[in-house]
Order: sequence, then structure tokens, then C-alpha cells
Amino acid sequence: MWDATLGELTSLADTACAAVSAAESLHHLDELQVHYLGRKGAVAHYMNKMKELAPADRPKFGKAVNDAKERISAAVQQRRSALIAAEDARRLAAGRVDMTLPGRPRWRGARHPISQTLDDIAAIFRQLGFAIEEGPDIEDEWHTFDALNIPPSHPARDLQDTFFISASPEIDASRNRTILRTHTSPVQIRVMLRDKPPLRFIAPGRVYRNERIDASHYTIFHQVEGLYVDRKVSFAQLKGTLLEFARLYYGPHVSLRFRPGYFPFTEPSAEVDVTCTVCAGKGCSVCKQSGWVEILGSGMVHPNVFRAVGYDPDQVTGFAFGMGVERIAILKYGIDDIRLFYENDLRFLSQFA
Ligand code: PHE
Repeated sequence: MWDATLGELTSLADTACAAVSAAESLHHLDELQVHYLGRKGAVAHYMNKMKELAPADRPKFGKAVNDAKERISAAVQQRRSALIAAEDARRLAAGRVDMTLPGRPRWRGARHPISQTLDDIAAIFRQLGFAIEEGPDIEDEWHTFDALNIPPSHPARDLQDTFFISASPEIDASRNRTILRTHTSPVQIRVMLRDKPPLRFIAPGRVYRNERIDASHYTIFHQVEGLYVDRKVSFAQLKGTLLEFARLYYGPHVSLRFRPGYFPFTEPSAEVDVTCTVCAGKGCSVCKQSGWVEILGSGMVHPNVFRAVGYDPDQVTGFAFGMGVERIAILKYGIDDIRLFYENDLRFLSQFA
């Protein structure tokens, strides 16, 4: 009976080792391990038989059971390592990166060139001591025209230049209809009504004009308004401030040209040109061979404007200016069509990333 049982143990170990070596997965291997080596497994079953033997036979039988157990354990361990290695190799192969492939470019968003230009202009004026103010795009006629000394008969108030917004029948019938602002100058009025002098600020923002669209005109564009009010503000300070701005923005080599102009809200008024940066003043199509490009309107605040906001024109003086942001960007980047700013064509916009 002895030898028969010993023989059983050997063939149990053979069968177990063969099964273990053939296990296809770690899960399957775990099942086999429990089946053969577990607390109620096949090997334990023989271990329990030990009690039935005569004490003298126990050592030999015990050794045989242990040998079987060790053979199976060794086979399990070996198979486990092999399965883990195979699994690692499979994962590595699946996640392999071909280092010779060209990179996939990632799309990066960028700020619109007009936003960038507005930021650059604001940064320079902040450095020169100007605060930043804002006013509403939807305005009324009083802030946009009347308070700025623009009489009701002025052509700028015409339907052809101004977008009117239907507000309410009462407002529409009044002399103070609701409009889209045609310039940022009404922000001058709003800030002066709110604060006492001295004042020094810029007001960047969108403006709207009912214009025929072409390469240099659009119905929407941007301006940066500037206003400085104090005792004894001079025209020389206006010139100095604008020249400082132009050199900080375009570079130290540019000059400004002040031409007499007319705005109802400033007196005297000047239209201001900057050296054409496309041709360095030599003459090209952008400056129409003149070497200069107009970038802003300016002047000394008209006494009637001060009266409209309750300031005493005998006590304070001031200068004001309004610059066209698209014009400034066009000149800086050499862009030949204002419509490009509003078409959202990524081929154009991505150049400013
Ligand atoms: N508001 C004027 C315009 O649109 C520009 C300007 C502002 C001129 C301030 C003088 C002073 O066109």
C-alpha cells in the first residue's frame, strides 16, 4: 500500500507540474495553485493521511509529500514569472513609440492682433501715468455729440454715419436717441461728470460707423481715447506725450507731424501723422508716397466741453486725443486690408500667435 501511495504522489506531482506549465493566464495559474497547494487541496489531502500511518513510516511518507509540494511550488513560481514577463512584453509592444515619426503639432490659441495692439498701447500709457477707463458701446446722442460741442446739424450725426438703436418710443422720439458710439470721446464726458480734475486716463474701446466697407473702412473698429485735464495743461505737453508714445511703440527713429485740423470738441486741433514704418518715410503705397501716415486726432479741450460737464474753463485746461487702433496695427505689422481683422481667418490670425 505504501509504494502505491508513494507512486500516486509522484504522478500527482507530474500531472500538477504539467498543468501548471501549461497555464495560460495568471488567473488560471491561481486556480491551479489553490487546487494543488491550497489548505483543502490535493497535497493537503495526502498530508492528512499521515495520521493513519504507523509512526515509523511517517518520516519517509512526509518527505515524499514535501517533495511533491516543493516540485509543484517551483513549477508555479516559474510559470508565474514567465506569464508576468510575457504580459510585460505584450504591454511594451502595444505601447511602443516610433521615435522616427514626425511630431504632431499642437494647436495653440493666440490673442487677436487687435487685442495685442490695445494691450501694447495701454501698457505704454500706463507707464506715462495714465489710468484706464471704459464706457458703454451703446451710448446716447447727448454724451456722444451734444456734450462734445457737436451741434445737431453736424454731418457726423447723420444716419449715414451713425447707427441708431431702437430703444423705447419715448427715447426714440426725444432729442437724445440711443446709438452705437461713433468714437470713444463720450468716455471723456462720462469720466469728467463722475470725477473732479485733475484727470489723466485713456479709454480703449470699440466704435461703430455706418460706412461702406472696403480695404481701409469697416463698420466696427477700435479707438484709444486719451484725456489729460489739470491747471495749465499745454499743447507742448500734448506733443511731448504723443511723441513719447510713438517712439515707445514704433521705435526711437520715428517722428510725428502735427497738421492743423478741426474737431468741434478741441481748439486748437491737430491731426497727427507718424513716419511711415513700412518704407521708413521714403514713400510707398501705404503712405501714398508721402512718407507719413495719419494715426490720430488731437487738440486742446474746447471750453464748451468743460462747461457741459460743470468744469470751469478759466480754472482748467486739457488735451485730448483719439487714435485708430486698426490703423496703428496695420502700420506696425504691414497689413494691407482692415477686413482681415474681422474675418477670423486662422491663416491670418495664427501669424500673431
Ligand atoms: N473723436 C475723434 C474721432 O473720431 C478723435 C479725437 C479725439 C480728436 C480726441 C480730438 C480729440 O475721430
